[in-house]
Order: sequence, then C-alpha cells, then structure tokens
Amino acid sequence: MEAVPLIEANNLAVRYPNGELALHDVSFGIKSPSFMAIIGPNGSGKSTLVKTFLGLIKPFRGSIKVSGYDSVKKSGKIRKIVRYVPQRDRIQLTVPMKVKDIVLMGRLLKKLPPRFASSKDIKIAKDALQQVDMEELWERPFPELSGGQRQRVLVARALAGEGSILVLDEPLAGTDVESQDLIVEALGRYRKENDVSIIMVTHDLNPIHTLVQDVLLLKNTVIGIGEPCSVMDPDLIKKVYGPSARIVEHSGHRYCMTKDSGIDSHD
Ligand SMILES: Nc1ncnc2c1ncn2[C@@H]1O[C@H](COP(=O)(O)OP(=O)(O)OP(=O)(O)O)[C@@H](O)[C@H]1O
Ligand SMILES: [Mg+2]
Repeated sequence: MEAVPLIEANNLAVRYPNGELALHDVSFGIKSPSFMAIIGPNGSGKSTLVKTFLGLIKPFRGSIKVSGYDSVKKSGKIRKIVRYVPQRDRIQLTVPMKVKDIVLMGRLLKKLPPRFASSKDIKIAKDALQQVDMEELWERPFPELSGGQRQRVLVARALAGEGSILVLDEPLAGTDVESQDLIVEALGRYRKENDVSIIMVTHDLNPIHTLVQDVLLLKNTVIGIGEPCSVMDPDLIKKVYGPSARIVEHSGHRYCMTKDSGIDSHD
C-alpha cells in the first residue's frame, strides 16, 4: 500500500478578501517523510500555501491535505501533528517573556490546562536551545535578543515541540551566516535523529540545498517540483527570478544565483 503523502494539493486556489488570487491551479504531491523546501520570489504565495495547509486560510477552490488530513475538515488534527514557526514572529515583544518561556511554549501549548513545565520539559527545552547554541540565554528577556538570536530561539521552540511535521516559514530571514549555519545544521541533525518531516519556506535554497529532498517552486502556481537538481533548471529559474538568474554547478550540486540570494553581486 502507498504511504500517505506528506502534502497533497488538488486544484487548489486561494483568494484573499480583496479578490486577489494568491494561488491558483495548484496540484502536487510530496511523499512522506521528506525535507521539503518551498521557494519562489516575494508575493509568490509561499506563506499563503503554508497558512492554507495549516487550516488558517480556507481554499477558494480545490483542497489540500497534510498527512491525509484535509485542511478544512481536519484542521484540529493537523494542528496536533505540526509545529509551526511563522514568518514574522507574532510574539508580542512588549510582553516580558524570557527565552525559556518561549521555548517551553513549544512543549506546553499542546498540553491541557493547567500547564506546568515538568523537569522533562525543561530538559528538552534546554537541549533544544543547545542545538542552536543559545543555552546560555535561558534567563534572558526575549525582546532583548537580536533578530538572528530570536530566530534561533524560535527554531529551538519548534525542536522542543511534539508533532511529526515541522513547518518553518523563512527561518533564515534576517540572520547572519553564523546563525544560518547553526539553524541549518540543527535542522539537519534533528531530521536525521528523529522520525519527522520538515517543510521550510526559503528565499534561498543554497544553504539547505544538500539536505533537501523535494523542492516546490512557486509563482502563484506550481512552476517546478522535484529533487533540488531538477528544479534548479536554468529555464525554470529564469521564469520566476528573471533573466539574470543563473545556475552554478559545484561539487556535484547545482546552486542558484539570483539577485536576492546575495551571492550574485553583478549581472
Ligand atoms: N492578508 C492578506 N490580504 C490580502 N492579500 C494578501 C494577504 N496576504 C498575502 N496577500 C497577497 O497574496 C500574495 C501572496 O502572498 P504571500 O505572503 O503568500 O507571498 P510569499 O511568497 O510568502 O512572499 P514573501 O517572500 O514576501 O514572504 C501577495 O500578492 C500578497 O500581497
Ligand atoms: Mg512569505
């Protein structure tokens, strides 16, 4: 029997109240388990796709399923199996939460009230912070951290959580190379050691290129899907990123150079 796909979209379209079709004619399937990347330029519908399969936005047409659960009919089930790091952290920065409170949220939110952190929860939260080299900041107020440090803490919160699918929307945005490396290594290690799938939205496939199994290239509809080297095709990439985008081969891997990947500084 075929295993249940990680994600399966059928003729999906999503329309915002202002009438804009953010996604249309989206049909694809991704086998489970996977480390999947969703790429595409600004406004191509990456975050919209994620919010739709998490059940936060309803499709206008068609459907999308996560591990066989329909995003509309089974959104509660989906919430249980997914750990989600949204694109811009929605945590109120004026609330004086400490780093430990943020990471422990990953453990506590799915428990029934009253919610107390057990010694096991604390150990798991500390271990997760250690994965991204942030354990020293356990007692630090979260709002005092830099943008890159906050991203690392939010990734640690996802690592500390439960659920077989991690969904991260641009976890590398606004981070320097050191933070990027720490986050990417932590995710790679975590996936190797645990029976989980990772779905990551990213502007730049290059840092995670060697970890990723499936890539979905979006521009409001599916432009390309497959393993990284097949999606890293000059014609497909030019179609979404414009004529200056190029593919470079190095050590058997294909890398994409676009203006916003930061690698390409000249035309
Ligand atoms: N809440 C909203 N109301 C109306 N339109 C929206 C809303 N959110 C997104 N859109 C529109 O839907 C389209 C897709 O947006 P989305 O945020 O999914 O893109 P994205 O690929 O995640 O972009 P980015 O790389 O900038 O994060 C855009 O044209 C955007 O303006
Ligand atoms: Mg987005």
